[in-house]
Amino acid sequence: MTKPDAPIPILVTGGLGFIGSHTAVALYEAGFWPVLLDNLSNSRREVLQGIASITGKTFPFIEGDLRDAGVVRSIFEAHPDIAGVIHFAAFKAVGESVEKPLDYYENNLITLIHMLRELHNRGKGNLVFSSSCTVYGQADALPVAEDAPVKPAESPYGNTKQIGEEIIRDTVAATGMNVIALRYFNPIGAHPSASIGELPLGVPQNLVPFITQSVAGLRGELAVYGNDYPTRDGTAIRDYIHVMDLAEAHVAALHRMFRAESDRPEPYEVFNIGTGKGSTVLEVIRTFEVATGLKVPHRMAERRAGDVTAAWAETSRAEKVLGWKAQRSLAEALLDAWRWQVEQETA
Ligand code: UD1
Repeated sequence: MTKPDAPIPILVTGGLGFIGSHTAVALYEAGFWPVLLDNLSNSRREVLQGIASITGKTFPFIEGDLRDAGVVRSIFEAHPDIAGVIHFAAFKAVGESVEKPLDYYENNLITLIHMLRELHNRGKGNLVFSSSCTVYGQADALPVAEDAPVKPAESPYGNTKQIGEEIIRDTVAATGMNVIALRYFNPIGAHPSASIGELPLGVPQNLVPFITQSVAGLRGELAVYGNDYPTRDGTAIRDYIHVMDLAEAHVAALHRMFRAESDRPEPYEVFNIGTGKGSTVLEVIRTFEVATGLKVPHRMAERRAGDVTAAWAETSRAEKVLGWKAQRSLAEALLDAWRWQVEQETA
């Protein structure tokens, strides 16, 4: 991919979060200049140092909350040259969203509305939106492609992603704004330097952070949720993607939006971002054990409510249209996640 001549400023909301921080690195490496915004509700200020230690640069950081429309306006007043926005800022815990639906609808949708309105007011409509494979529910056919039906959401969190996509679709139709929605599969891993990674608060709900914390002795044994699924070994299948591959997909999305409009007939596009390969929970455990030489203490447990049997991505649209394809293996992602875990212990 060619680098722009001068760094183009890109606003990264949720820029100190798991995917946001890795995307900041990928943006800089591709010749963009990330302007980071975060309200620190689920991240730490020290992430800035991690990004700086990888890139050798200190990027602008705004501590602010996008639920306040005045904050959104002030960012663009302070940085009028922002050419595009990658909007990560959102709550993302499925279980918590069931307990606190209003928090999820308010945070995930009001912030999106404020951002779209501000971009429209300024005539600057380039936005990349974080969506999720959760919109497919249990897909009727696998790998699941972008034109598969969106199923009724299993949780308020999932619903915010579906409604977010609808808000964008209607806004693009009315304004001609440029938007790309990326439907992420399961992001895992960390930057190979172990300077940035995932920082789950409390007991991790996601598989890979639970594995690394369990192996580090911080948690008990891993409960494998369900071994009676109709899959090759009875455990559920997901498409685990290295967070740096995912980060680079955002760079590819920006490149597409900045191309001449004639190259991009549809102002709103949706892409699956996964590897195209599904792994069972037991395969993840085994791959971790081979990659690190360490045992993952685990036991079989009941299925977790709301889990689907299997999900993996059809990735040919992203390959053809964005020129992007995941490069890193599951073993590499798990090893990077483990290195990051070890770094937490010794930091
Ligand atoms: C979850 C969310 C999804 C969200 C994604 C973000 C649910 C139902 N879905 O996806 O909406 O976009 O996180 O990363 O929460 N597992 C275990 N033991 C554990 C943890 C997980 O066996 O302790 C299994 C799960 O049953 C699942 C797989 O590992 O089969 C992956 O789980 P997880 O990492 O939580 O991701 P998803 O549930 O796919």
